[in-house]
Amino acid sequence: MTGRPVVLVTRKLPDAVERRLAEQFEPILNPDDRLYTTEEILRACEDADAILPCHTEHFDAATIARLPARIRAIANFSVGVDHVDLEAAAQKGVIVTNTPDVLSDATAEIAMLLMLGAARRAGEGERIMRRQEWRDWSPAFMVGRQLTGKRLGILGMGRVGRVVAARARGFDMAIHYHNRNPLDDDGVGDATYHASVEDLLSNVDVLSIHCPASAQTRGLLDAERIALLHRDAIVVNTSRGAVVDDDALVAALESGSIAAAGLDVYNGEPDRIHPGYRQLDNTFLLPHIGSATRETRDAMGYRAIANLVAIFDGEEPRDRVA
Ligand code: DGY
Repeated sequence: MTGRPVVLVTRKLPDAVERRLAEQFEPILNPDDRLYTTEEILRACEDADAILPCHTEHFDAATIARLPARIRAIANFSVGVDHVDLEAAAQKGVIVTNTPDVLSDATAEIAMLLMLGAARRAGEGERIMRRQEWRDWSPAFMVGRQLTGKRLGILGMGRVGRVVAARARGFDMAIHYHNRNPLDDDGVGDATYHASVEDLLSNVDVLSIHCPASAQTRGLLDAERIALLHRDAIVVNTSRGAVVDDDALVAALESGSIAAAGLDVYNGEPDRIHPGYRQLDNTFLLPHIGSATRETRDAMGYRAIANLVAIFDGEEPRDRVA
């Protein structure tokens, strides 16, 4: 290749990341952070050798088929890659990478915040304070559920799940998990393995979802499985909305068959999320900010750049997923 490879960056990245990218590549930046349509991306990448997108840009099979032949890589600024059809990319010979590890701490913090927020009714409390509706203190006022000593079920004991387990141990929570296979390394410690999702759900007080969205996990938390949770149970999701059947979760929250939910990710985000979540008092809601710390966003960018450097140096990138 003559000259520096051209990289189409679909969203505004941290300044330090854009500076580092410009040291080795010819970036096409999006300083206004406008959300591009697929057609705009396809037009903009006519002159590019690689794309550095976020999960907000979708590369389905039809889009990948239309990518110019010179596109060598999609180096995602995300750990989740459900927005990219990996099979289609592999077939076209486009390398796909993600940014694992570097966002596990930040995402685990948000999982803990959601657990606490949902258990202790933090959203309700905040709304009362902001609306100046606090009239009285009483022993019955805003009584929630205590996390300390409860059983935490981790659905998907991967990188983030392990950090959540470590943080939750600080609350004396007993850790339970489900993966396809039991893990035998140190990160899992004394956690109890459940061979089925159903068995996990029947044995926990808090469920925290950490499995990626895929054809296998779409709608995994459906009405039948939610019915296995007890009335005081709390559901937390920092992974992807697609893992949850929204109608079923909203119905369970409405009827009181579970106690509360803390959610950071949704089907149809940002503007078409299930309206039921907003209407309920027993939901604690955040706008997909699991990885949103300065440290983590820089680290995600550097990791995406390192993957691009490897690819254009003819090496295997560390985080290849297709
Ligand atoms: C991720 O990295 O997958 C986060 O959800 C942000 O895209």
